[in-house]
Amino acid sequence: MSTVTIPGYRMGDPSLPPGALDVAAFERVCTATLFTDEDRQALREAKEIIAPQVEQLLDVWYGFVGSHDFLLAYFSTPEGPSGDYLARVRARFGQWVLDTLSADHGPEWLAYQAEVGRRHARGKNETDEAAQGTPDVVPFRYVVAFIYPIYATIRDFLAKGARDEEHLERMHQAWLKAVILNVAVWSQAYVDPDLY
Ligand code: HEM
Repeated sequence: MSTVTIPGYRMGDPSLPPGALDVAAFERVCTATLFTDEDRQALREAKEIIAPQVEQLLDVWYGFVGSHDFLLAYFSTPEGPSGDYLARVRARFGQWVLDTLSADHGPEWLAYQAEVGRRHARGKNETDEAAQGTPDVVPFRYVVAFIYPIYATIRDFLAKGARDEEHLERMHQAWLKAVILNVAVWSQAYVDPDLY
């Protein structure tokens, strides 16, 4: 069980169901993404650089969501954006950044990422009381589209600690693969099991 105490955060919770992929099946997805142990190492190095900048990174991502009404809508009730809901999710989003950079891609990680996928899909609004009255689901098309800004905008933050251009590129590409791998696991919540 994780020692992190963020409301609604459930990494390592043994009561979570395991998700569709076991470690061996997930390894094949890693291979399909060209994700290797070198990428894992690059993510560890990126964590050193990103950890002290997580809040600033979240400011950029939240700024992006907040500047597009059609995205902010998923955090909004008919009365407008829910500051409480945004804040609750933000705390877990920050933890996700650290988890993504240090992931062992083991059974606990797989189970929690299946849960995070569910939280964007049919399980949206179950975790936070403040979510009541916001839309029932984040459409899958936006989850896929969001990979790009989540990838592109971290570059300037990585650049602050990269040794040189090659090191920056290695960490940046590893991050892209890591985000794609998350979304590949999350997709389970959206896809007909026969097609997953
Ligand atoms: C690559 C794409 C995305 C990433 C990496 C991402 C990341 C995350 C993370 C880490 C969480 C918290 C998970 C937890 O509970 O521990 C979360 C929740 C959430 N995200 Fe995303 N997200 C993505 C796409 C989107 C998009 C496009 C939207 C639309 C605005 C969105 C809206 C939300 C909402 C509303 C929640 C809270 C869901 C709930 O009620 O539990 N996400 N996201």
